[in-house]
Amino acid sequence: MNVLVYDNEEQIGIAAGNYMCGQVLAKPDSVLGLATGSTPLKPYGHMIKLYEQGAVDFSKVTTFNLDEYCKIDVNDINSYHRFMHDNLFNHINIPEENINFLNGNTDNPEEECKAYEEKIKKAGGIDIQLLGIGSNGHIAFNEPSDSFQRWSHVVALKESTIKDNSRFFKSIDEVPTHAVTMGIGSIMQAKRILIIAIGENKAKAIKQLIDGDVTPQCPASVLQFHKDVTLMLDKGAASLL
Ligand code: PGA
Repeated sequence: MNVLVYDNEEQIGIAAGNYMCGQVLAKPDSVLGLATGSTPLKPYGHMIKLYEQGAVDFSKVTTFNLDEYCKIDVNDINSYHRFMHDNLFNHINIPEENINFLNGNTDNPEEECKAYEEKIKKAGGIDIQLLGIGSNGHIAFNEPSDSFQRWSHVVALKESTIKDNSRFFKSIDEVPTHAVTMGIGSIMQAKRILIIAIGENKAKAIKQLIDGDVTPQCPASVLQFHKDVTLMLDKGAASLL
């Protein structure tokens, strides 16, 4: 694993934004796997800046987002669909038809998840997957459990995740209890993985990711088996290494 430690979040934003855009420059029709949460905000900001400066063109790019809450309107301020449009898609020239999300409002989640996997395959697979990490070691919404879930699936969110994410909602009772998420296999099939962690509350999960046992109790630990992983950490997230 390529572990890079930065002084602050601004520096990570620039480095991670450059990394993602570098992929698009090398392969204009890249397939990007994208993430939501606080962590990718600065990288997305830098990608927008590079686009505005004319340094990168997203017109041939395809994207697949990692996950989405169940039973939340796509235009709701807390939907990941809305998050991505507000923080990236509305500011760059990616065609709307190239943007893909799991549908958390489907009546047939199994079919939905199967179709999503097929679509990723048909697009040629994900060239680079951007990931955050939960304080409990989750990646996407693959929560700690007794086994790795291979493909996209519906998941009941852990209390720790509901608590972490409640900061975006008016009250904790409003946080959805379920989500649809890419599986560990979907993520592991990405050709390259960029994982970012900011803050001391991620330090334990990062330590386990890098030199703990590979166990579904820390889903991120599976990344030890991937051949091309880059970690960008601030000093807080790297504090236990
Ligand atoms: P965060 O979430 O970026 O909001 O910390 C990361 C995650 O839960 O994967």
